[in-house]
Amino acid sequence: MDYRSTVAHGPALSQLNADALLVVLTADQGSTGDPVLDQIVKDAVAAGDFVLKTGKSLYVHRPVGVKASRLLLLAAADGSPKAFKAAVAKGVAQIKDLGANHAAVAVAGGVGLEAAHARSLVLAVADATYVYTHTKPSAPKPGQLKKVTLACQQDEASAVKQGLAEGQAIAEGVTLARELGNRPGNHCTPAFLASEAKRLGREHRHLKVEVLERPALEKLGMGSFLSVTNGSAQPPKFIIMQYQGGAAGQAPLVLVGKGITFDTGGISIKPSAGMDEMKFDMGGAASVLGTFRAVAELQPRVNLIGLIPACENMPSGTATKPGDVVTSMSGQTIEVLNTDAEGRLILCDALTYAERFKPAAVIDIATLTGACVIALGHQHSGLFSADDELAQALLQAGRQAQDTAWRMPLDDEYAEGLKSNFADIANVGGREGGAITAACFLAKFTKAYRWAHLDIAGSAWKSGGAKGGTGRPVGLLTRFILDQAAAGKDAIAPRPVKAAGKVARKTSRTPATKAPRAARSAKA
Ligand code: BES
Ligand code: MN
Ligand code: ZN
Repeated sequence: MDYRSTVAHGPALSQLNADALLVVLTADQGSTGDPVLDQIVKDAVAAGDFVLKTGKSLYVHRPVGVKASRLLLLAAADGSPKAFKAAVAKGVAQIKDLGANHAAVAVAGGVGLEAAHARSLVLAVADATYVYTHTKPSAPKPGQLKKVTLACQQDEASAVKQGLAEGQAIAEGVTLARELGNRPGNHCTPAFLASEAKRLGREHRHLKVEVLERPALEKLGMGSFLSVTNGSAQPPKFIIMQYQGGAAGQAPLVLVGKGITFDTGGISIKPSAGMDEMKFDMGGAASVLGTFRAVAELQPRVNLIGLIPACENMPSGTATKPGDVVTSMSGQTIEVLNTDAEGRLILCDALTYAERFKPAAVIDIATLTGACVIALGHQHSGLFSADDELAQALLQAGRQAQDTAWRMPLDDEYAEGLKSNFADIANVGGREGGAITAACFLAKFTKAYRWAHLDIAGSAWKSGGAKGGTGRPVGLLTRFILDQAAAGKDAIAPRPVKAAGKVARKTSRTPATKAPRAARSAKA
């Protein structure tokens, strides 16, 4: 799809050269600034065919006096980017299967178009025109729509152009994340995720991609990550992506994405109903890949690292069993009381690995808990962080990107339930506050840097008739990174680290079934 801004201060809207003209109107601001269109709106309202109420629309074919042969009037709640996005989404859904190749979108006068409106337009169009075809070639093809133009005033043109370019890059990242999520578990394997990361690395300068295989992971002592792969025939992959847009010495932001390409629960097996949706359990990984795609295109002045532990969680005769104790890369031993709490087991080793980058901040993204879906539904991703500055920056980015998060508590008291008689820590607490105890588990591996955790179990995909990946939170993450790049010396900087309570690491292979080391305290 091609997005271009048209400076419409010359021709009146009714004279715009396009196959379809979408006009977004608000209740208090009815005038389009074009007498021909104003008359059409006025007549339609008088006839009772159109109401200026949010969500209402009117399609007019071959409107008299209008150059475009299709006119769609769309009522929006107000002039905000959010309301604009909703109106455009509705409008594009309505015309995308018609014969139009080129749609022009305009907003009734009085609404000042900003970059955020342009981003909203691109994201709404990309969302409305995405079709999954990889394993369904028979899916109805998208219509003929090839080009979408946003009509704006001369003085809005530069912000609009910048917004369109940003929106295009973000939309491509969102679409990549969606596509990866939608691919079934037998297609989207750990090896496939690794090959997708490598492909991105080849396609973009400034991007370096490396994939660690099992022997390297054993050598690093990632006994927790490896314990999750024990039951699977698919080899695990640890993907490392590096984008250098900032100075060589500048501390990087690190994104860590949960890459469980299918989560059966393992020996603590899940019920059958709806288990297919556990192909989306690599949503965190997909969002990291999507964000790297957007960032590699926009080239902000930041350094960014992406880490993706990828594997399947399967039951088998070799699978990890409830009660098994494994040794994480941090040295902390973990009693695996429930093999279905596997996300935290792969993330904790990736979080320890992140220390070597001396990061400005680390953000992990994971479809971590069903409890988070119960707590927040599908509207907001769950945000957990002890760092107020980092948390605020992420919340703000989410609002800006219309990809919101909601902050959840992370008090130490919630970690009580993670006590174990046989290891430093258990991998599950009780049922209650499950999203928080999961975050508390991760917190025990993030003492060396500023850290935030996004639980996207409710936001990464949709169930039911519209079942499919959402590409969230690529929008939030990309916005955060662009904001950090723009913040210059006010950007989030590494926290001075006190002794992080590290222990000597094992460098030799650590069998997942080995007896626990002597208990140690990890400065909880
Ligand atoms: N991938 C799931 C979380 C999940 C479940 C996301 C349902 C979306 C919908 C995760 O690995 C998991 O199974 N978590 C368990 C944790 C429990 C065993 C403590 C859960 O949420 O039930
Ligand atoms: Mn699980
Ligand atoms: Zn999972």
